[in-house]
Amino acid sequence: MVACGTAHYACYVAKYWIEKLAKIPVEIDIASEFRYREPPIEHATVAIFVSQSGETADTLAALRYCSGRAEKIISIVNVSTSSIARESDEVLEIHAGPEIGVASTKAYLGMLVGQLLLAKHWDSANKLDVSFDEIAELPKLIEETMDCEKQIKDISEKIYKKNDIYFIGRGLDYALAAEGALKLKEISYLHAEALAAGELKHGTLALIEDGTPIIVTASQNHLLDKTTSNVQEVIARGAYVIAIGDNQSEKLENISDEYVTLPDSNEILTTVISIIPLQFIAYHVANLNGESIDQPRNLAKSVTVE
Ligand code: M6R
Repeated sequence: MVACGTAHYACYVAKYWIEKLAKIPVEIDIASEFRYREPPIEHATVAIFVSQSGETADTLAALRYCSGRAEKIISIVNVSTSSIARESDEVLEIHAGPEIGVASTKAYLGMLVGQLLLAKHWDSANKLDVSFDEIAELPKLIEETMDCEKQIKDISEKIYKKNDIYFIGRGLDYALAAEGALKLKEISYLHAEALAAGELKHGTLALIEDGTPIIVTASQNHLLDKTTSNVQEVIARGAYVIAIGDNQSEKLENISDEYVTLPDSNEILTTVISIIPLQFIAYHVANLNGESIDQPRNLAKSVTVE
């Protein structure tokens, strides 16, 4: 799976779903790195390119590298007439509608859903414990999740003047952390960094001091205890912890300074909706700093140069 930016972070989530649940090994790569290392592509390889615009130059170049090498080229795109779609064997359209803001938000969610459907298609052993009916209920679940906006606005008022913000999580939540940090950097211009929560003690913990904001998502129950103990490590150094999880994470809720409770849902869908509070944090922090949300400085919506 090859992509750039937010689309690349969406691939992290897909890797986890497809490998852990459908048991098919997945390599993900950043398009601007991929072809320069001339990776060997065995014929029985499916190459997947994920792109909102379908015009990202590096992703298109990576696709061309795989053409004639991979058995099949699949693209997951939002623009069905794009170059990436045209040069693919199969196209999975995410149907998110035109995305105007430079920061990818609804397209990211659309990518996750497209990838989930693909993972379900390959899940012959039926390991992906989510039904099509449950997936079809996602719009309603997203509406309910958006009720957190007022709380996120209040939280944003407490952190918008900070210089550094850390996002942590394990497994799929690490993938969400990466996307949450990118969103914040992109539109609020604050320094944000994402870390696999277990990596903290291998270095970055040294940077945590009184009041350092740490944003943690905890969407997977089997990782909850480990994530909670990583949160205890940062609390011991004075961090200001904003946690996002469901109503079964009592211990995490009790130790956090702020806790955003997600609506009840299937665990796989909890991961999908967990990005919404992170997108709201980026939005409100940028807004409070008076930044232009849709047109952040130095960035273009479609990156057509390598
Ligand atoms: O159109 P694409 O999905 O291929 O774009 C890839 C990245 O340029 C894009 O996701 C970028 O990282 C976003 N501005 C992030 O919000």
